[in-house]
Amino acid sequence: MSTATVLQQTRNWVHGYFTGSSHLTLVLTIMVAAFVVNYLVQYFAATGKVPAAQHLVPTSSNYPSTAYTKARKIPFYTFLNDFMANRVEIRKRDGYGLSHWDESVTFPLTLRSLWTFTVQVLPTYLWHSRAANRAHWRRFYDQRDDLFECLMGRLRLSFTPRFIQSDESLAEAQTHDIGRLTEEDLALTPDDRVLNLDTQWGTVELCWLSRLPLYIHSTSHSVELAQYAQTLAERASADDRVQFHTQDFRDLTFHPQQFTKILALESADWIGQKHLPDFFRTCHDLLAPGGRLVIHSTTSPSVFGSLATSSVASPPGGGAISSLFSLLLAPLSFLGGRTGASTSASATPTGLSHYLHETFHYHLFCLTKVCPGRDTVLFTTLADYVAAIQSAGLEIVRLDNLSQDASKHYAEWFANWDHHRARIEMRYGEDIYRQMELYLAWTSSLFRRGGLQRHLFVLQRPFDNNDA
Ligand SMILES: *[C@@H]1O[C@H](CO)[C@@H](O)[C@H](O)[C@H]1NC(C)=O
Repeated sequence: MSTATVLQQTRNWVHGYFTGSSHLTLVLTIMVAAFVVNYLVQYFAATGKVPAAQHLVPTSSNYPSTAYTKARKIPFYTFLNDFMANRVEIRKRDGYGLSHWDESVTFPLTLRSLWTFTVQVLPTYLWHSRAANRAHWRRFYDQRDDLFECLMGRLRLSFTPRFIQSDESLAEAQTHDIGRLTEEDLALTPDDRVLNLDTQWGTVELCWLSRLPLYIHSTSHSVELAQYAQTLAERASADDRVQFHTQDFRDLTFHPQQFTKILALESADWIGQKHLPDFFRTCHDLLAPGGRLVIHSTTSPSVFGSLATSSVASPPGGGAISSLFSLLLAPLSFLGGRTGASTSASATPTGLSHYLHETFHYHLFCLTKVCPGRDTVLFTTLADYVAAIQSAGLEIVRLDNLSQDASKHYAEWFANWDHHRARIEMRYGEDIYRQMELYLAWTSSLFRRGGLQRHLFVLQRPFDNNDA
C-alpha cells in the first residue's frame, strides 16, 4: 500500500467519523484530545529553572530525594503525598509571601483531579443547599476550637486588615482596621441600627460596643460560634445590646429597611457564586435608603473565569463548565504563546496555562481538605461581584485591593501555625497540621502573585428619589 493510499484512507476515515457523528461525539472527542495534549504538555514541558530542593526540602535521609535535587519539577500529587507523609518540607525562607515554593511543582490535570472536581466539588458548587452549608460550617468551625486559637491568637479576629505601617503585626493591624471600618467605612454613629452578617467569635461586636452605645444584631451559620460570642458578650456585660442569631442568609427574619449599617466580612465566601445576586439584593432590602454595607470579597483573577461568568444571568454551572473548558484548552495558549480559550482582553498570554492549573488545584485542595463548601471563590471574578452589586441597586462608594494585605495575613497565620506545631500534632495528628500548613503557605503565595484577590467594598443603598 502506498503512502498516498494510506493518507487517502485516513482522510476518508476522519471525514466519515466527523460527518457521521453527532455534535456530542465531536465535543467529547475534542475534550479528550485536549485533555491528552494538556496532560503531556504539563507533564513534559515544565522543566524547572532551579532545583526543586531550593524550595522543597526532603526531610528524611532514607527517602529517595533525588527528584527534589535534580532540576525538574515535581507533579503536584507526588509532592502532596510526600508532604503529607512528612518526607518534604516547604522551605521557610521569606516569612512574608512564602512566595516561590510553587516554582518547583507542576499541576497537570490528571484523572484524579477531574474526578475530585466532578464528584466532590461540583455538586456543592451547583446546588449549595442550606443543609450542605450547615454541614460545612459545622465541619470547619464547630469542632476545632483550640485550633483557631493557635491560628489567630487570643483576639480571634479572622478578617484581613489593611496593613498601614510595614512593621505592624497582624493583631495590631486588625485592631487599627476595626477602628477604620467603624469610623470611616461604616461611619457608625450611636443612632445606627447595625447588622453583622458574620459573627465569627463575636469580637468585632465587642469592639463596637466598647466604643458606641449601639444595638447590634449578628448572624452566624454556626451554633458553636454564636454561643461563644454570646458568652463573651455576657462576660463583658454587653449582652443586652447585642443579639446573636444562627441563620442562613436566605432565611433572615428581619424587616425591610431595618438597618442603617451592615458588615459582612467573610460571609460572601460561603454563600456560593449562584447566590451572590440574591445576597446583595437581600442586603439592599434590609438597608434603609442611604445605609451602608461593607463587605470583603475573595475572587479568582479574571483570566480564570473570563469565559465563565461575564454575565451574572448565565445559568448556574455554566461558569464551571466553561472554566473547565478553558483549563482543557489552556495548553494551546501555552504552545502558541497566545490565549487559546480565553478571548478576553484581560488575559495574560504567558504562563497562563500553569497559572490556571495551579489555581484550579489550589481550589480542589481547599474545597476537599480544608474548607468544603467555601466555594464562592472557585470561579467568581471581581467583575461578577460588581455586576451582582449593581444589579441589586447598590452603589460602590469605595473599593480597596487587599490582596497584598491578605498575603501578609496568611503568612502571619502560617508563622503562628508553625509555632504551635507540637501542640497541634499532639492533639489532632499530623494530617490536620499538614493540610492547614499547605493551605496557609499556598494562600499567602497566591495572594502575593495575584492568583487570588481580596477586595473591600463600601456600598451604599441610594436614597429614593422622593426622599432625597
Ligand atoms: C490587586 O492586587 C493584586 C496584587 O497586588 C494584583 O495582582 C491585582 O491585579 C489587583 N487587582 C486589581 C483589580 O487591580
